[in-house]
Amino acid sequence: MNAIKACIFDLDGVIIDTAKYHFKAWSEIAENLGIQFDQKLNENLKGVGRMESLDYILSLANVTKSDEEKIELATTKNNNYLKLIANIDRKELLNGVLSFLDDLKKNNFLIALGSSSKNAKLILDTVQLSPYFDAIIDGNDTTHSKPDPEVFIKGSVALGVSPKNIVVFEDAPKGVEAAKKGGFKCIGIGEWKNLIHADYVMDGFSNFLTKDLARIY
Ligand code: BG6
Ligand code: MG
Repeated sequence: MNAIKACIFDLDGVIIDTAKYHFKAWSEIAENLGIQFDQKLNENLKGVGRMESLDYILSLANVTKSDEEKIELATTKNNNYLKLIANIDRKELLNGVLSFLDDLKKNNFLIALGSSSKNAKLILDTVQLSPYFDAIIDGNDTTHSKPDPEVFIKGSVALGVSPKNIVVFEDAPKGVEAAKKGGFKCIGIGEWKNLIHADYVMDGFSNFLTKDLARIY
C-alpha cells in the first residue's frame, strides 16, 4: 500500500463546471464547418489542448486549413469561451470541492493543478482558489497534451511527491489515460462508462473528504 501524500486536480469539469462552456464554444466552430457536433464527440476533446482539439474537429470535417487559418479559428473559439466564462463565480464550483480542498489542507496533503487549459490561472484567480495550490501546471507549461502524462509528471516533480503517492482527479477519458500512463492513482469524476480505466468513479465531491481516500486506497 502506498500512502497518499498529494492530490492533483484537473480544472475544467473537476473543480469548476466550465467543461460545458468549452463544449458550447467548440460546437459553434464545428457547426460553422458543417459538422454535427454532440456530447459524444465532445468526450474526445475533454482534456485535450486547444490546437489539438481544433485538429480533431477539422479531421471530422475532412478539411485542411493553413496555420494562419487555424490560429484564427482557435482564437475565435477562445474569444467565445472567454465571453462565456466572463461572469463565472464560486457558484460554478462542483459540489463539495471546496470542503474537500479545505479538508486536504487541514490534513497536510499537498495540492496541485494539472490542466491542459491556458486559461487555468485566470479561472482559479477569478474564483479565488489559487492559494490552495502548492503547484499549478497548465497548458502554458506543457508541450504534450493529455493523454500524454507530462502535465501530471510536472505536477509530481513540482510537489516533490512520487506518482504512486498521488491521486489525480479527472473528468476526461484522455485525462484518466494520462494519469494511469504516468503511474498515478486516479479517481474519475463523471460517468463510469466514459472513465472505465479510473480506479474509482464518482459524480462529484459531495460528502467526499480525505478519510474517503483511505477507504478507496
Ligand atoms: C481542458 C479542457 O481543460 O483544456 C478542454 O478539458 C480544453 O476542453 C483545453 O480544450 C484547453 O483549454 P484552453 O482554455 O487553453 O483553450
Ligand atoms: Mg477536465
